[in-house]
Amino acid sequence: MTRLLKDYPSVALKPENLDGRIDFVRIFGRSGPVHIEIGTGKATFLLNQARGQPDDNFLGIEWARKYYRYAVDRIGRWGLTNVRIIRTEAAAFLTDFVPDNSVSCFHIYFPDPWPKRRHHKRRFFCAANLEQLLRCLKKDGQLRIVTDHADYFEQIEKLMAVQGERLEEIEFFPTAGADRGEWVGTNFERKYLKDQRPIYTLAVRKT
Ligand SMILES: C[S@@+](CC[C@H](N)C(=O)[O-])C[C@H]1O[C@@H](n2cnc3c(N)ncnc32)[C@H](O)[C@@H]1O
Repeated sequence: MTRLLKDYPSVALKPENLDGRIDFVRIFGRSGPVHIEIGTGKATFLLNQARGQPDDNFLGIEWARKYYRYAVDRIGRWGLTNVRIIRTEAAAFLTDFVPDNSVSCFHIYFPDPWPKRRHHKRRFFCAANLEQLLRCLKKDGQLRIVTDHADYFEQIEKLMAVQGERLEEIEFFPTAGADRGEWVGTNFERKYLKDQRPIYTLAVRKT
């Protein structure tokens, strides 16, 4: 039987209610390090990480309505107060709404790889979006990326390399919700580990 998904207005941010750059203290009702996950999917990482780091604030961005509704219902049922989610396109959201030097960590796990060459321009990682991520990150803020796609990973590494001393590569530690043998414990990671696909990780710090 299909479960009825509930809406939880306290966790779901509505793009139409935003007006200019976001005040994260107002959104979360408290100060604290802000983490943003881009492409939250079913929110498995977001929930586990938010439960493991109760002093930090977590915002998920998910474009697909189906995953967004599923995630809202799950976040609401878990009753965590340090998680919010918004249904919107991440690149435009960063540009329009996220203040400079405001984010402690971006998590981007298994971004859509758009494998066909003619679709590469749809990939989230490009010079313009990396520039936005860096603008939003605080000094010492982190950008953490995981993918199963070798060609996309190579593209991401090249984009990072041209940043020179603006970024420093750091060790990628497994996250709070990761089980043994996992890096981040997302639904896609679990599926791909079963398929024995290689997994590529990268973490950088804004200097
Ligand atoms: C391959 S899934 C990975 C989901 C999750 N991170 C995981 O590892 O299980 C990629 C997700 O990113 C979302 N997505 C892709 N591009 C996006 C964008 N520009 N803005 C917001 N969400 C996006 C998709 O809808 C999809 O849910």
